[in-house]
Amino acid sequence: MSSESSEAVASIAPVVPVALRQALASFDALWSPRIVQRVNDYDVRIAKVEGEHVWHAHEHTDEFFLVLDGELHIALREPAGERSVTLPTGSVFTVPRGIEHKPYAPDGAAILMFEPTGTLTVGDRHDEVPAHVDTTTGHAL
Ligand code: NI
Repeated sequence: MSSESSEAVASIAPVVPVALRQALASFDALWSPRIVQRVNDYDVRIAKVEGEHVWHAHEHTDEFFLVLDGELHIALREPAGERSVTLPTGSVFTVPRGIEHKPYAPDGAAILMFEPTGTLTVGDRHDEVPAHVDTTTGHAL
């Protein structure tokens, strides 16, 4: 038997089933994602959001969004100009790498994101981060 596996897998994601409804009920912080699963080198994160995030861009990765509850908007600065997409509950959308974006949810929403482990919530470049936005690579549940 090899002992190579004696090094524990470093992961803050639980290797147990996670009920998203219960997970969402376990924290109140806004714009502060919790990691609910890890898939290869990607995190599945959930967040409660309300109001505006901050303009930012992820230079090296796309960012996937699934709206679990409420309505999320994402403002986008694309080469053709600025636009905003509206994502009702159950919608999915992927922000392409390198595109400046700013999620916002005037009435609040619960969202799920799928992105490489270590991806910062405010990207690689961003406007000044307001106090209500958590700069993080995701917290444990
Ligand atoms: Ni982003």
